[in-house]
Amino acid sequence: MEQKEKKQTVFSLIQPTGTPTLGNYLGALKNWANMSDEYDCLFGIADLHSITVPDFREKPAQLRKNTRELYALLLALGLSPDKNTLFVQSHVAAHSQLAWILNCYTQFGEASRMTQFKDKSAKHKDNITVGLFAYPTLMAADILLYNASYVPIGQDQKQHLELARNIAERFNAIYGELFTVPKPLIGKTGAKVMSLTEPLKKMSKSDENEKSYITLLDEPSSIVKKIKSAVTDSESEVLYREGKDGINNLIIMYSACTGQSIKEIENEFSGKGYGAFKSAVADAVVKELMPIKERYNQYIADKEYLDKCMRENAEKAAVRSQRTLNKVMKKVGFLQI
Ligand code: TRP
Repeated sequence: MEQKEKKQTVFSLIQPTGTPTLGNYLGALKNWANMSDEYDCLFGIADLHSITVPDFREKPAQLRKNTRELYALLLALGLSPDKNTLFVQSHVAAHSQLAWILNCYTQFGEASRMTQFKDKSAKHKDNITVGLFAYPTLMAADILLYNASYVPIGQDQKQHLELARNIAERFNAIYGELFTVPKPLIGKTGAKVMSLTEPLKKMSKSDENEKSYITLLDEPSSIVKKIKSAVTDSESEVLYREGKDGINNLIIMYSACTGQSIKEIENEFSGKGYGAFKSAVADAVVKELMPIKERYNQYIADKEYLDKCMRENAEKAAVRSQRTLNKVMKKVGFLQI
């Protein structure tokens, strides 16, 4: 019998903090759907992480709504709940269980060095919880439970992944080979999309200026408006050049949506001016996002289907993660009955 080669595992979660932006999509999410042929993929929603900050703590209805909407959106992006494991973190108990164990193998000092913890605790000075401090060990548990080889993440999560690697190596050194040591996949294939109003800043949905970002569920008219009012420069040629940050950003967006190279785009719009270029970018973005929005509307209206997918996929994730958790518990010395 022919031995089927085992695919390597890719794992990533996204927090249910609201509709992802065009930046999240072109930078990462768009690629998720393409990975499932080559890799064994687990993707999901990090709702346990979302209660580490006051924005979502004590807002149960909001958290539930965001979680369901994000799940529908992941389906709308083309992530298959059959080919992948597509699940909600809080539905799988092993994440919290392994996180506790990893907490006991993580130094206070190393967790204190996490720059995201420092930034977030500076922002919420009078409301810093132990959960916020332990956020990276929960993330390590997420990854290590599935023996993931690769973890697609943003630059901001690199230090957390480094910690997960350290914890995995530490565990392996004490108890023998147990965890796969994961590697980051950072923006290798995705586009880095900047703010439409301040093109030196990353596009972000937490920006106060709503004109600075496009979400995946924006109305076409709003997308057109935002792109038409995007900041450019006082020249008129569509060229990708240092210092032309606004135009560069639009070129990147256009390229990511159409598949055209920068050179081809420069040629296409040579002598045409920024107005015509912005219209074309807006059309391309609308064309890219509208099928997603349509599929989203269908999924979000079908609560039964969503629940069924979530249940079945939580079950798949539970079976896999429980295997790892059992091994860990045995190694650590918890009495087996
Ligand atoms: N912390 C990640 C973020 O905010 C989300 C996340 C949670 C994650 N667990 C993970 C990402 C495991 C990759 C792997 O972006």
